[in-house]
Amino acid sequence: MPTTLIQGGTVISATGKGAADVLIEDGKIAAVLAPGAKTLGENLAENVDSTIDATGKYVIPGGIDAHTHMQMPFGGTEASDTFETGTRAAAWGGTTSIVDFAVQKYGEQVVDSLADWHDKAAGQCAVDYGFHQIIGDVNADSLAAMDGLMDEGVSSFKLFMAYPGVFYSDDAQIYKAMRKAADTGLLSMMHAENGPAIDAMVGELLAQGKTDPYYHGVARAWQMEEEATHRAIMLANLTNAPLYVVHVSAKQAVEQLAAARDVGQNVFGETCPQYLYMSLEDQLGAPGFEGAKWVCSTPLRSKHEHHQEGIWQALRTNDIQTVATDHCPFCFKGQKELGIGDFSKIPNGIGSVEHRMDLMYQGVVTGEITLERWVELTSTTPARMFGMYGKKGVIAPGADGDIVIYDPNGHTSIGLNKTHHMNMDHSAWEGFEVDGHVDTVISRGKVLIDNGEYLGKKGHGEFIKRQACQYLV
Ligand code: URP
Ligand code: ZN
Ligand code: ZN
Repeated sequence: MPTTLIQGGTVISATGKGAADVLIEDGKIAAVLAPGAKTLGENLAENVDSTIDATGKYVIPGGIDAHTHMQMPFGGTEASDTFETGTRAAAWGGTTSIVDFAVQKYGEQVVDSLADWHDKAAGQCAVDYGFHQIIGDVNADSLAAMDGLMDEGVSSFKLFMAYPGVFYSDDAQIYKAMRKAADTGLLSMMHAENGPAIDAMVGELLAQGKTDPYYHGVARAWQMEEEATHRAIMLANLTNAPLYVVHVSAKQAVEQLAAARDVGQNVFGETCPQYLYMSLEDQLGAPGFEGAKWVCSTPLRSKHEHHQEGIWQALRTNDIQTVATDHCPFCFKGQKELGIGDFSKIPNGIGSVEHRMDLMYQGVVTGEITLERWVELTSTTPARMFGMYGKKGVIAPGADGDIVIYDPNGHTSIGLNKTHHMNMDHSAWEGFEVDGHVDTVISRGKVLIDNGEYLGKKGHGEFIKRQACQYLV
């Protein structure tokens, strides 16, 4: 039974912080001890297989990124990170678990798509992984298949109010799927944008010769997100289905979530770092076709409309509960370039899986959130939301030994030739200089990253069979 003692650090949880040593035994946390603790009259440090000095550093539960798309077929191409490259990059950034989306396309069986995702991920991952199920074709077969998802450890599914002709569900389909969710205990995840209205606006803009990436953001106006968020909340209310709205970027959508939560509805929201640090003007509006790097949906919003302030506030007030990346990377050459001359053909997605913990730590540095809230948003609540808490998301006896040792006095320069392990030919975060540094990353007791070196291996990551949501009101 290998044992490791992490000594001298400050352990941060969602509810507090304090000096403590952490003992990992056989991949699990065995004890959280007063510094220098002795057991059976012995100095513990002399009786373990290895010790890690965390003096002056934070000891936090491994990050959980609950929204990734590894090798997802989308936009006429496929997301460029495989499970191997994407989970290795996640490890570099202090993320020890991801929840990816198995994709059921039109005409496919849900069980086949889930089996396909298991095939893609098995034996490839550096960190642990779970799956949500995308239901891209709500019909009698897929509704019946939803009955079996909880037993598969897939306790959540995603529907799209966007992307007509691809993954889009109409209101009747959403109603039926939510009825099924209420019956089965599955958590409904929603991409909340009014796809048909957006497509009409896309057509108008292109007809006017407005083909640059900037117009992706114009077409996907905040009204489209607010309206769809409201509609999803009402359908969830009607069917008594818990609802988790993904990649929230508009402050008006936040207001819809807050209003529903204020009356006690089980409604939750997720945002992503790009919506906190990037804008329509500065990134999507970059000269020429450059803005394609930041085409994602929901889109980056105008910096003149105060969305970022609204989202930071919601992160403090718990009107938004989680921060994921929506990691969906595409290379510029040959992938983003598919949309030269027509922004609607640019594959939607940004790669960030490697940077989430650092980027959210900047909220601590600037005083937007506390250290505890940083841990809660990036690890503890994702674990509870998606039925992994106890095993993941906490440093406590019995939990998996998933731990990040974070140096608050370190510094991270983000960029393609600096800290980049994602399979992309550019970094959406090029030039970002951030305080703090992921020093050591441990997954189930195994050191994956230490001192700037990758010590993990593909196949270490195991499938996480998730339980039902543990966050319901
Ligand atoms: O732009 C995005 N978000 N791409 C990934 C697919 C999705 O809608 O989450
Ligand atoms: Zn989406
Ligand atoms: Zn996504």
